[in-house]
Amino acid sequence: MSVPSNMQKVKCLEDLDALAKAYLPGSIWEFGSTGAENNLSREGNRRAFDDIWLQPRILKDVSKRSIKQDLLGKTYDAPFGIAPMGASAMFGFEADLNYARAAKVANIPFVMSGSALIPMEQVAEANSDVWFQAYVDADRDSIAALSDRVWQAGIKNLVITVDVPVPGNRKVSLRKGFEYPMRPGLGIAIDALSHPRWLFGTFLRTLLSSGLPHIENYGPERGIPIISMKAPERKHIRDGLNWEDMKWLRDRWQGKLLIKGVLSPEDTKTAAATGLDGLFVSNHGGRMLDTAVPALKALPEIAAEKGAMSILFDSGIRRGTDVVKALALGADFVFIGRPFLYAAALGEQAGVAHAIELLSQEVYRTIAQLGCTELDELGDRLY
Ligand SMILES: Cc1cc2nc3c(=O)[nH]c(=O)nc-3n(C[C@H](O)[C@H](O)[C@H](O)COP(=O)(O)O)c2cc1C
Repeated sequence: MSVPSNMQKVKCLEDLDALAKAYLPGSIWEFGSTGAENNLSREGNRRAFDDIWLQPRILKDVSKRSIKQDLLGKTYDAPFGIAPMGASAMFGFEADLNYARAAKVANIPFVMSGSALIPMEQVAEANSDVWFQAYVDADRDSIAALSDRVWQAGIKNLVITVDVPVPGNRKVSLRKGFEYPMRPGLGIAIDALSHPRWLFGTFLRTLLSSGLPHIENYGPERGIPIISMKAPERKHIRDGLNWEDMKWLRDRWQGKLLIKGVLSPEDTKTAAATGLDGLFVSNHGGRMLDTAVPALKALPEIAAEKGAMSILFDSGIRRGTDVVKALALGADFVFIGRPFLYAAALGEQAGVAHAIELLSQEVYRTIAQLGCTELDELGDRLY
């Protein structure tokens, strides 16, 4: 797939930021890019990577190196995947389908968000290996109904996000008008009209092809529209969710079951004892609890308690060297959020494919420079 013309100058993932900022209305850009409160955890994620150094080894014959990695019974072509991101289809036309298609072609995992605006059945049709991330209420009947729907869609890997007992405090995006549902008004209209490429390329195109986007995947049925004058704000009743619910779901769910948003070794021990297949070490890209520890800093002590689980990691990865550092510190696999969101907004499937290719090349180059032929040799390249 050729690189989209508007992404010809994108030579690394961070090149996407400025282009996405120019393309998107301010409310949508702020919703995607910011963290909670003072952005300390979001920025801390980056600093944590910058504080780690690598020690190359030389003359190792790395001509036959590979960046393939096994995860939960499958071999992927790269050790990274696409993290779940809600409302992606407000950023880019059919973004969730484009993640799914690009991930399938590249043979990497894609976790679709429970807050996606495209029905899970359609995404699973585009990529039968798609994983599903659920936000669940503390109500077993509703968890059962949602997980039955996921299973019916043919999805086998279920991720429950557990770091949102209450919503993150993202006042910046709220101030700019992004909430569920968005309330139409003059401010939002001006914001949209002043970004005509997004207005025509994403929003009007979506309206014409499938109508007003809805929250599609919170339960067994379609939810509220994303833009509405009168739909009530969705109530969060997740604060009662607990480990007993996870045990109950473990007994009920026949596929792989993971949780996302773990930052403590104690919780890791409990997750292993609960029989989970894996967990995501993540501070949600800094979008939930501001000043939550950068996920990379928590990673080694969590990896030490993993038992039979797979350790997945996200929050802050932008470079091949970041991927390598997280693997060296104990992650089995890593996921990336915002850069893929921006790539889908700017270049649809080809944009996501370009971002995957850039990061793959960086990982492939980095392991050669470190004198490694396999990813499991990375552990002793930390300085
Ligand atoms: C716009 C946006 C929406 C997100 N929506 C979800 C979501 O629905 N569920 C979830 O578990 N995480 C969600 N996340 C968090 C990502 O899955 C991931 O943890 C985070 O983006 C990783 O950090 P990074 O963006 O620095 O790579 C979202 C992130 C962004 C940027």
